[in-house]
Amino acid sequence: MIRVENLHKHFGGFHAVDGASIEIATGSITGLIGPNGAGKSTLFNVIAGVLPPTSGKVTMAGEDITGLPPHDLFHKGLLRTFQIAHEFSSMTVRENLMMVPAGQSGETLWNAWFGRGRVADEEKALAAKADEVLDFLTIDHLADERAGNLSGGQKKLLELGRTMMVDAKVVFLDEVGAGVNRTLLNTIGDAIVRLNRERGYTFCVIEHDMDFIGRLCDPVIVMAEGKVLAQGKADEIMQNEAVIEAYLGTGLKNKLKAEGTA
Ligand SMILES: Nc1ncnc2c1ncn2[C@@H]1O[C@H](COP(=O)(O)OP(=O)(O)OP(=O)(O)O)[C@@H](O)[C@H]1O
Ligand SMILES: [Mg+2]
Repeated sequence: MIRVENLHKHFGGFHAVDGASIEIATGSITGLIGPNGAGKSTLFNVIAGVLPPTSGKVTMAGEDITGLPPHDLFHKGLLRTFQIAHEFSSMTVRENLMMVPAGQSGETLWNAWFGRGRVADEEKALAAKADEVLDFLTIDHLADERAGNLSGGQKKLLELGRTMMVDAKVVFLDEVGAGVNRTLLNTIGDAIVRLNRERGYTFCVIEHDMDFIGRLCDPVIVMAEGKVLAQGKADEIMQNEAVIEAYLGTGLKNKLKAEGTA
């Protein structure tokens, strides 16, 4: 589905992504893990068209999509969520979902497409779609709640819900479990698995929670210092010496830094 070839993203002299090559197979739930600062979010941002790459190539189903802007990728079915949820806090949960297709195609195009008379019908269809999504995510009781009042975990579910308002093919989830309690994390995990099995979504998931990664993802790709360090099944990866070293390495460096000895 997605192939990334020898990708570099430099910020000045700093190589945040330093020659990474990955493949995300159609129908997979691919995990992307690695210590803080490994370049995971930067890699996502380049794939999703938020940041231009310094060099390298990204293809989707064989088509070169390197550097395409997010709305073009959106129309191709490539969607992402953000590490920090970015809901419209004063709007309701249902309204937030209804915004997704319109927000991406632009208000003018939207009106031109449906014409003035058809906007009301279209709104009804969007509301019905939003309610279906909320039902799927088991948060239908929150439809009329202001999004700003949701818990962190509920906001993450709403982020996932946004990807369900259109026909997504491949979805990039950046730390969808961060700050989320166990129960909600399971709800999010279940929704991902069901979207994968029942609707054919391909996922690439960045997450620090290893239980979550182990339960959902095959394969798991490990990044460290901008490079791909290892790839394989979750249980193999977690016993891989280089991977353990990469995690311990940063842990040790941070500890020494905190103690003022490095
Ligand atoms: N816009 C930017 N300008 C300069 N440096 C950046 C920029 N964005 C990211 N970086 C740096 O690139 C490195 C990789 O950051 P990135 O956010 O991709 O890491 P990550 O693997 O997602 O980490 P985390 O697990 O903490 O989210 C970090 O050292 C970060 O400080
Ligand atoms: Mg990140």
